[in-house]
Amino acid sequence: MNPVLTPPPLSLYVHLPWCVRKCPYCDFNSHEARGAAPFEPYVDALLADLDHDLPLVWGRTVHSVFFGGGTPSLFPSEAIDRFLQGASGRLRFAPGCEITLETNPGTAEHGRFEAYRAAGVNRLSFGIQSFDDGCLRRLGRIHDGAEAESAVKQAQDAGFDNLNLDLMYALPGQDPAMAERDLERALALQPAHLSHYQLTLEPNTLFAARPPAGLPDDDTAWDMQERCQARLAEAGYAQYEISAYARPGRQCAHNLNYWRYGDYLGIGAGAHGKLTLGAEQAILRRWKVKHPAQYLAQAGRAEAVGGDERVEPARRPFEFMLNALRLAEGFALELFEARTGLPRAAIAPQLAEAVDAGWLETDGARVRPTELGLRFANDAIALFLDDVADNTSERTRPGDTGAVSAETVRRAGPD
Ligand SMILES: C[S@@+](CC[C@H](N)C(=O)[O-])C[C@H]1O[C@@H](n2cnc3c(N)ncnc32)[C@H](O)[C@@H]1O
Ligand code: SF4
Repeated sequence: MNPVLTPPPLSLYVHLPWCVRKCPYCDFNSHEARGAAPFEPYVDALLADLDHDLPLVWGRTVHSVFFGGGTPSLFPSEAIDRFLQGASGRLRFAPGCEITLETNPGTAEHGRFEAYRAAGVNRLSFGIQSFDDGCLRRLGRIHDGAEAESAVKQAQDAGFDNLNLDLMYALPGQDPAMAERDLERALALQPAHLSHYQLTLEPNTLFAARPPAGLPDDDTAWDMQERCQARLAEAGYAQYEISAYARPGRQCAHNLNYWRYGDYLGIGAGAHGKLTLGAEQAILRRWKVKHPAQYLAQAGRAEAVGGDERVEPARRPFEFMLNALRLAEGFALELFEARTGLPRAAIAPQLAEAVDAGWLETDGARVRPTELGLRFANDAIALFLDDVADNTSERTRPGDTGAVSAETVRRAGPD
């Protein structure tokens, strides 16, 4: 008999799709706001969307909320407040529920951080990328290094102690010493959490069409990563995921839930959700229409659902590994069974292969990636994809996440 598929902790993802300007490397569902974006109608749409999805999560408690974008910090605090009041009237929020808002330092305004805090936001994630003015210019960012530092300090003065800073490395024109200087400036601000992403050229971005000059080669990028990783460890930040580092007890609860193959309700334009339906012993993926104008017009109705898909049992090991093998802690085999509804025997051959390759280690109860395994996570994950292909006769390319959007994967990369 198969293990019982048990509904895991539930998170709420809220997508706010506007930015001041579209960055040339960005493939997120983000749109340049020409003039003021329709903030209040969008909050109405989000609440209607939430009402529509509520029957999928009746009686469940929300353990974290993440406002991602786009640039959520473009939204006035009154709009965030109204949404959170509406959401907490419809769903039970766990005590101490982590509520994160992504913030572009170029949108910081005096007084805004206090108001976000008063609305219930208790964690900010700053898209810093770099403190170097030349790098920031080449990335098309709307802020300079000094503005980035000042925005973080303003948030700290407003009482935020749980801050994440996003840094990118392997930037055009950057050498390893510059990447280290960026990291030093970030550490000087003493954030609780740091996300360190290698710049990637994503399809359908300006950078992919016309790659910028001066991109570091792979060896140089690897050198930057190793140096920064060592410096972060020395400064007391433990790497708990491929790109995520935290002080003790400061891991991002929201992203950890993704990586542990937890559940999330996704509302907002293009938002993706994954929900375990205990009674049906099924896993449902649902995503919303992508374009903000269409979403605004249709939210709350069936037309706003871009698609629904059941995750077939044969695909679950791959989806589980796509998340769990990013984590330094790995996973308990018991968790695999509860989250996928499959016996551990279903993945025994691939696990043995990954252990042989030196990518994973196991004591029979837990499975952990080795240092090599974290570096070659994609190869380890791809082993579980083969099984899906064999079982469904539907070939899927390694790295192809199907209904799992690149945003979900990188966001659960990204903070
Ligand atoms: C939605 S953005 C964060 C908030 C806000 N929009 C901003 O950029 O300031 C999420 C993060 O993903 C990372 N990111 C976006 N595109 C990337 C790319 N092509 N390569 C690596 N990291 C990327 C950036 O660090 C960015 O801060
Ligand atoms: S990186 Fe952030 S600010 Fe830039 S376009 Fe993407 S979501 Fe918007």
